[in-house]
Amino acid sequence: MTPSLAERMKEDQFAGYAYAYPHKTSYRPLEPPVPLSIAWQREEKNALFLYVHLPFCEMRCGFCNLFTAVRPATQFLLQTLDAIHRQSQVTAREIRPQQISQVAFGGGTPSLLSVEELQRVFQRLSGTWPIDWNAARVSFEVSPATIDSEKLSLLRTYDVDRISMGIQSFSPHDLKSLGRPQSDRQVEAAIAAIRNAGFPVFNLDLIYGADGQTEQSWLETIERAVAAAPDELYLYPLYVREATGLGRTGRSPSAGRRELLLAARRVLLDAGYHQQSMRLFRRPGVASESDYCCQEDGMIGLGPGARSYTRSLHYSSEYAVSRAGVRRIIADFNARQDGELACADYGVRLDAEEQRRRYLIKSLLRAPGLDLDAYQARFDAEAEDDFPQLAELAALGLGLREGRALRLTSDGLSWSDVIGPWLYSRRVASRMEAFEIAEK
Ligand SMILES: C[S@@+](CC[C@H](N)C(=O)[O-])C[C@H]1O[C@@H](n2cnc3c(N)ncnc32)[C@H](O)[C@@H]1O
Ligand code: SF4
Repeated sequence: MTPSLAERMKEDQFAGYAYAYPHKTSYRPLEPPVPLSIAWQREEKNALFLYVHLPFCEMRCGFCNLFTAVRPATQFLLQTLDAIHRQSQVTAREIRPQQISQVAFGGGTPSLLSVEELQRVFQRLSGTWPIDWNAARVSFEVSPATIDSEKLSLLRTYDVDRISMGIQSFSPHDLKSLGRPQSDRQVEAAIAAIRNAGFPVFNLDLIYGADGQTEQSWLETIERAVAAAPDELYLYPLYVREATGLGRTGRSPSAGRRELLLAARRVLLDAGYHQQSMRLFRRPGVASESDYCCQEDGMIGLGPGARSYTRSLHYSSEYAVSRAGVRRIIADFNARQDGELACADYGVRLDAEEQRRRYLIKSLLRAPGLDLDAYQARFDAEAEDDFPQLAELAALGLGLREGRALRLTSDGLSWSDVIGPWLYSRRVASRMEAFEIAEK
């Protein structure tokens, strides 16, 4: 029997981050591979999202399990940029996009690239895809040690709208515990340079729950972040995964992550931020490009670690965290021939039921909640009939009906990392478990 939500809540408040459903660990080889022209033939192509994954960093942080290679040799990096360009050309030829309305550069740390390399990436994308940089919403991830005013002014010329910087903490003790080497001077210089450059949206990422972190040190970090006046703040609870530096040394997150979230929430609401999801706090009136977050389908991923989403197929390259695994996957990607790049060979299919689940999970975990009329219009069905388990949310005081919206209460939002996994299908959950067992 599948455990009820109440039973799951007793186990652990931090069961899993449902930012993408189905999770990448549920992907498997697609047999036979699916030609991109077929995968994309029925999709709307006039407002596509291009995600460019640049899988390189200047360091490997102790907590991080993202797909990234550290301090790559210049030749390896340039080969990868060339391979991304070939993939880009083949993909555009197969998909035949009409308009790209949103672009995100993620990683890794895209700002690790030099000004010349960045320029080349932008120019190649402009020559390949129908992008009006001025009209498109463009987001770019940076880290304090790799960003400078020259790179920022290049990003301004391409009308980048949103800069997102990982800081994780301002406390030297907490940074050490997270395994994130970072100089305070560099952080302050980076914040000042970003502020000076005047991007419409400035986001900071922070992590709470480092071993030994106190509520006081966490709130000092929050206060310093608020003083930098970001438009958005993402607060991530620390997850310690096995293949990471923290996982290998047997570190665990601190007890009381929930209390840390609630304490930060109070400070941020007082400072005028609104809570948009468990992790995202935003100033009122800020354009909401990060809301997009894959709820819509039609995301084209470029780069060895990028995922792509159509309504019924999600696909990517294989996934790894270990140094050897990441290098092998990037090297395989760099050697791919055009014929291979024209097919999806690793991913997961979403049948009608999984498409409904995805829509439900992505909507419910955001503050505005699930619009029952939009669900009805899209799927010709009532969400509460499709998912009778939703009744448990109201019974536990975690969800409520407001007219035709079903939304989480503020307590419910703080339980998002249990509610998300509780809504996964049996099929996806068992594929994820099998992947994790095979990794051990
Ligand atoms: C795509 S990452 C990269 C940002 C950028 N490379 C940097 O670190 O400055 C986005 C964010 O995910 C969060 N994150 C990554 N791994 C995490 C983990 N194991 N637990 C909690 N948050 C994590 C961090 O806050 C990070 O800034
Ligand atoms: S947190 Fe950012 S800088 Fe650190 S390893 Fe992960 S992607 Fe790289």
